[in-house]
Amino acid sequence: MYPRSFADSDGDGLGDLPGITSRLGHLVELGVDALWLSPFYTSPQADGGYDVADYRSVDPIFGDLADADALIDAAHTNGLRVIIDLVPNHTSALHPWFAAALAAGPGSPERDRYLFRDGRGPDGSLPPNNWTSVFRGPAWTRVPDGQWYLHLFDPGQPDLNWDNPQVRSEFEDVLRFWMDRGVDGVRVDVAHGLVKQSGLPDAGEQAPGDNDYVHTGPMWDQDGVHDIFRSWRKVLDQYPGQRILVAEAWVSPLERLARYVRGDEMHQAFNFEYLQAAWRAADQRTVITRSLAATALVGATTTWVLSNHDLIRHATRLGYPAGTVLPQGIGPDDPQPDAELGLRRARAATLLILGLPGSAYLYQGEELGLPEDIWLSDGARQDPIWNRSGHTVRGRDGCRVPPPWDGWQPSYGFGPTSASWLPQPEIWANYALSGQRGVPGSTYEMYRTALSLRREFGLGAGTLAWVDDFGPDVVAFRNRGLLVIANIGTTPVALPPTLRIHHASTPLPPDTHVLPVDVTLWAS
Ligand code: NOJ
Repeated sequence: MYPRSFADSDGDGLGDLPGITSRLGHLVELGVDALWLSPFYTSPQADGGYDVADYRSVDPIFGDLADADALIDAAHTNGLRVIIDLVPNHTSALHPWFAAALAAGPGSPERDRYLFRDGRGPDGSLPPNNWTSVFRGPAWTRVPDGQWYLHLFDPGQPDLNWDNPQVRSEFEDVLRFWMDRGVDGVRVDVAHGLVKQSGLPDAGEQAPGDNDYVHTGPMWDQDGVHDIFRSWRKVLDQYPGQRILVAEAWVSPLERLARYVRGDEMHQAFNFEYLQAAWRAADQRTVITRSLAATALVGATTTWVLSNHDLIRHATRLGYPAGTVLPQGIGPDDPQPDAELGLRRARAATLLILGLPGSAYLYQGEELGLPEDIWLSDGARQDPIWNRSGHTVRGRDGCRVPPPWDGWQPSYGFGPTSASWLPQPEIWANYALSGQRGVPGSTYEMYRTALSLRREFGLGAGTLAWVDDFGPDVVAFRNRGLLVIANIGTTPVALPPTLRIHHASTPLPPDTHVLPVDVTLWAS
């Protein structure tokens, strides 16, 4: 969940930790095992809290440390694990280390904790290399004494120097700080970016930002990152119970990603290659096979994900023809999705991933079938990508709009007032939890039933066996006695008469013997 957008307890229009604690019942009812929280630490919020000024405190907009402790305790009481977000690639420009680096000047030990370099050209007025920021524009900013510092993201997010021993020991200490408070896991932001190729050579053709999904070049996926994760694993292994590390690493191919989850490194890595696969049977089969094989190489759990706080929600993505390459953020003047088709396919895709062995990650609001907010006015946008791209790339606000809890309340029940840091579109009333709870066939009830059956059948810990009986346009497999059949073709598919149907992504008439297009079925 994106804490800024989940639930607002005090009516200031920004979600907060007490808001999350008050809504834990929803997560229990939904049937998830754990919650992953995006950063809630002290931060000037240049990038929604992914710019951390103090890793050991809670930003006042979200509450305080006592609220974090209360949330962790309440989650545990409710049988939920808690995964927090660690941001080790960069700090905020307002972190005391960066202030010290600026004050201490070139060549100082304070500057060595970051990546400061002299510029190129006779007067050093050109950046040290040609790297560009993931958020667009140059990856270097010049400071008054003439040096430049590297920021792969916003200038408010200076990159740390992971060759510096102080940086290493500080983050191990931060890990211990949160493990001591009882968190069960850590999602590691930009795990593939921590170590840069020595000498910081110019990037080749593909630089960050060229492709939003796959990062290649001298700043990504360097072998040196693995040492860091091995030392973190040792820290976590000193704690009782199961504590996990989850990598956010935009790395390809999957075999390369598997290196992050070797036995002595992290436990899981988000499978963004799955997320990018087109809604075509052959593409789905291939990426599922490759994902399972890659993690099997290292004995790790495979993961599945369809949406998160950085990406266009899958109910919208799947409303475009299969294989469409979308801009990063959609506005009213862009080609529009087929919303009905998108939701139908989103539900089918969800039931497909929830039928697979491994861990599935869901993003707040997808359980309501929420689409991307493509109606958001440009004036309301807050993602740094929008400004840094010179207002050419809309960015990620459309998936961060607070979801609707109650169709009749101000801010749709997000908080006690009508305030919402991103305006919610009127169409949110149609997706509110209040209108879906207990309603057979609603997206929310489809998720609930799926999660409960997934638990009952033990699907997460199962194994996949492909079933070829239904033709090339159907993805079908068995997992722990459950038969999962997804019709991704263009015509209905005949089903064997003896099937016992447990669940379907779109309600089917009783005693049906056909599987309609864009429906996933769970049967035995
Ligand atoms: C990945 C996070 O998910 C995203 O929201 C953030 O902007 C970047 N990392 C930079 O920290």
